[in-house]
Amino acid sequence: MINEVGPTHIIILGGSGDLSKRKLLPALIDLYCRGKLPNEFKITGVARTPRSDEEYRALVTEAIHSHNHDHSDEEIHKFCQHISYVSGSFDQPDTFAVLQDLFSQFETELGAPANRLFYLAVPPSQYGTIFRALHNSGFAPEDHHGCWSRILVEKPFGRDLETAKTLDEEMSQLFSESQIFRIDHYLAKEAVQNILSFRFANTLLQAAWDNEQVASVHITMKETVDVGHRVGFYEDVGALRDVGQNHLLQLLALVAMDQPSSLTPEAIRNNRARILSALRIYDESSLSGNVIRGQYEGYLEAEGVEHDSNTETYFELKAFVDTERWQDVPFYIKAGKALDEALVEIRVVFKDVATGPFETDSCITANNEVRLTIQPNQEMGITLNAKAPGLGFQLESRELAFTCQKGEEEIKNSYEKVLYDCILGDQTLFTKTEEVLASWKFISPILEHWQKEELHTYPKGSDGPARQLT
Ligand code: BG6
Repeated sequence: MINEVGPTHIIILGGSGDLSKRKLLPALIDLYCRGKLPNEFKITGVARTPRSDEEYRALVTEAIHSHNHDHSDEEIHKFCQHISYVSGSFDQPDTFAVLQDLFSQFETELGAPANRLFYLAVPPSQYGTIFRALHNSGFAPEDHHGCWSRILVEKPFGRDLETAKTLDEEMSQLFSESQIFRIDHYLAKEAVQNILSFRFANTLLQAAWDNEQVASVHITMKETVDVGHRVGFYEDVGALRDVGQNHLLQLLALVAMDQPSSLTPEAIRNNRARILSALRIYDESSLSGNVIRGQYEGYLEAEGVEHDSNTETYFELKAFVDTERWQDVPFYIKAGKALDEALVEIRVVFKDVATGPFETDSCITANNEVRLTIQPNQEMGITLNAKAPGLGFQLESRELAFTCQKGEEEIKNSYEKVLYDCILGDQTLFTKTEEVLASWKFISPILEHWQKEELHTYPKGSDGPARQLT
């Protein structure tokens, strides 16, 4: 387990950016305080702005104060003793020369070699430069006197199928697959991992999980926040690339995948990949009726947005998975910013139950439904029909629901799990090449088609554009 992992050097490339401040540093101190980092570790932030180690520690302290209120000043101070900083840009050999000195210094202090974990918390446009620099400098060998080097990359991995393939080929020439950890932080959410236990540890659900019983699946990610200060990133990406190609298709894969033969990373990743590869690819003629894109009113006025920007802040898709089990079951996927509520949920709606003795006008029946809520609360529910109390015999629908208990072990920030699993070398919750490419294969024709598709506007705080998919 974690105590058996040797000394580890965590290098955050982009160590002063938004992701580092909001998620990574708060996750690292949580791991540290839970005793879930290797006994000997060092964290080095790398970014362009010149700063001393002390100035960087001050930035780390402030980030932790703003985004993680669980730690005392003493804990933060102790954690910061493990932190150092390197300034420089990623295309300058000098930056890597300074890093080399730090590696040597750490290993000399330890009197032993150390593992290296490189976290790329930078825009994807910089990935290529960093991969080559890491490879050319010899910093990330697969094996280094018995120690490993691993590379964590954030999504979006590419912009479309072609760019993802190119990036992937480049990566696989420079590093081995076991070194590459492609992050989809949704997979690391506790509630998302629960999809597998809910489905495969309950006979009741297993038996009903196919096109004989299921009418439709609805995967929804609504955010109340707007694009805010992330305009620069968002303008280039849009909602479908930002959360559709990755988070929501991964949720679909978990809902639809066959039972894995075991809980090994390979078995789970292969089954997810099979579903993503079976997504029906729309041709031009079928796209219009199956996709909608929207933009919230006021987006064009935000600073940094082109006055005629065509970037979507909302999308809806109807997807089909062409496997025997899911033939003809529509999967409705929808996501948007600046909507009326913050909600991430999956609903599996079963076919009509109004058959047999209850197929009469006097009986109220609702379809059975399984609800898996991921945010704001982690909840599971099953809607069932029961007799309504009273003298008559009418039905009413009731929900059996439970909230997953919060407790000491609760992981609030999924990046804790991302970092922890990477240190342990467990790739289950990271996407493999086939999954990434299959998702892009499905998404790319939609992105192309969208150049011609009307953009529907919607008021902030609403449920999205008036037009909805049927
Ligand atoms: C990120 C997207 O990957 O996920 C953001 O870039 C989105 O646009 C975020 O807001 C949502 O993640 P979470 O964990 O807050 O649901």
